[in-house]
Amino acid sequence: MVTVVVGGFFGDEGKGKIISYLAKKDKPEIIARAGVGPNAGHTVYKDGKKYGLRMIPCGFVNEKSRLFIGAGVLVDPERFLYEVEITKTEGRIFLDKRCGIIEKKHKEIDSGDKFLKKTVGTTGSGCGPANAERANRKLKLAKDIPELKKFLTDVPLELNNSINKGEKILVEASQGFGLSLFYGTYPYVTSKDTTASMAITDLGIGPTKVKDVIVVYKSYLTRVGEGHMDGKITEDNVNEFDFWRELLEKARSKGIKGSVNEAIAEYLGEKGTVTGRPRRIGNFDFKLAKYSSMINGATQIAITCLDRLFPECYKVTSYEELSERAKKYLEKIEKKIEKKIFLISTGPEVEDTIDLRE
Ligand code: GTP
Ligand code: IMP
Ligand code: MG
Repeated sequence: MVTVVVGGFFGDEGKGKIISYLAKKDKPEIIARAGVGPNAGHTVYKDGKKYGLRMIPCGFVNEKSRLFIGAGVLVDPERFLYEVEITKTEGRIFLDKRCGIIEKKHKEIDSGDKFLKKTVGTTGSGCGPANAERANRKLKLAKDIPELKKFLTDVPLELNNSINKGEKILVEASQGFGLSLFYGTYPYVTSKDTTASMAITDLGIGPTKVKDVIVVYKSYLTRVGEGHMDGKITEDNVNEFDFWRELLEKARSKGIKGSVNEAIAEYLGEKGTVTGRPRRIGNFDFKLAKYSSMINGATQIAITCLDRLFPECYKVTSYEELSERAKKYLEKIEKKIEKKIFLISTGPEVEDTIDLRE
């Protein structure tokens, strides 16, 4: 039984948190990382310690699960080996022998090319140049790197054997819908599609094996790097919702300067996990959410960071205990996207979750 978790906005929706919750709660035998590569930054907590993961699946928080990285995911060997060490996952983490390898030259092109760095605003992690080289059929693969030898396996075989035994597989994608090379805000996008269909291709799982697709949305919109976003919070619309006004007041009273958008972003701690760049903040984008739920074939949706808009909901674990205004907000999302919300995150830690699944 396969469950796929993907981002419905521009990445940083809090997929890391949702995946770590599902890893602990549902106890999948296998947790498999899909997506582009180390351009991702997922934040997870384990035993009170914070991890900013770019390669290892966030599901590592479940110590019993076996962890896999699919052939579609680019691997930066240095970063991978570092994360294996800090997460102590050697012995249960495996890479597909066909994963593409990011070398120093790819990172140099990514950071040195004016169009990539300035216009698109890439993460500089080398993913775009490495994917381009793969399309040119010149990229090195994991099987060419001696240091990775002990981690290599045939990921599709492992995963499909596990599916045939009736085991549970949790697939974690990275980035978000708006960054898809095909369906996002081209050219301000990443170097690959970011939908659920791509995620299973990355891993070598067929579409008939997928039971659920969980699309994750943050309670508001954020975007790091360049490219358009609707509903950006500015001086002109900040008073339309009481929560934005309250957040701005709190930011200013803490002495935070800068534009309305910058002040709220800084107050909320919204900055890129990989690059440290400030994220832009916007209203929940219902149109984008509905479209991404459609293309991903969502069966369930998850909403994160509810407590950031409604601080009275911090760490609440039952729907009934949410404030009236937060419930109204969630009902509006369900109505507009025409999908049911099954998971609500009310804080960064695994326990801060409302689970409305059967
Ligand atoms: P990408 O792969 O880049 O999309 O990453 P991501 O979706 O895993 O999100 P990321 O970890 O970059 O950013 C989410 C941030 O919000 C992290 O700092 C999380 O710890 C935090 N977070 C996640 N859920 C919640 C929540 O419900 N409430 C609060 N307060 N923080 C949350
Ligand atoms: P690249 O993926 O590094 O080529 O970056 C292309 C665009 O995608 C830039 O706007 C990045 O900021 C954005 N991006 C890539 N990965 C992530 C992510 O994990 N979270 C948020 N934005 C991302
Ligand atoms: Mg992130």
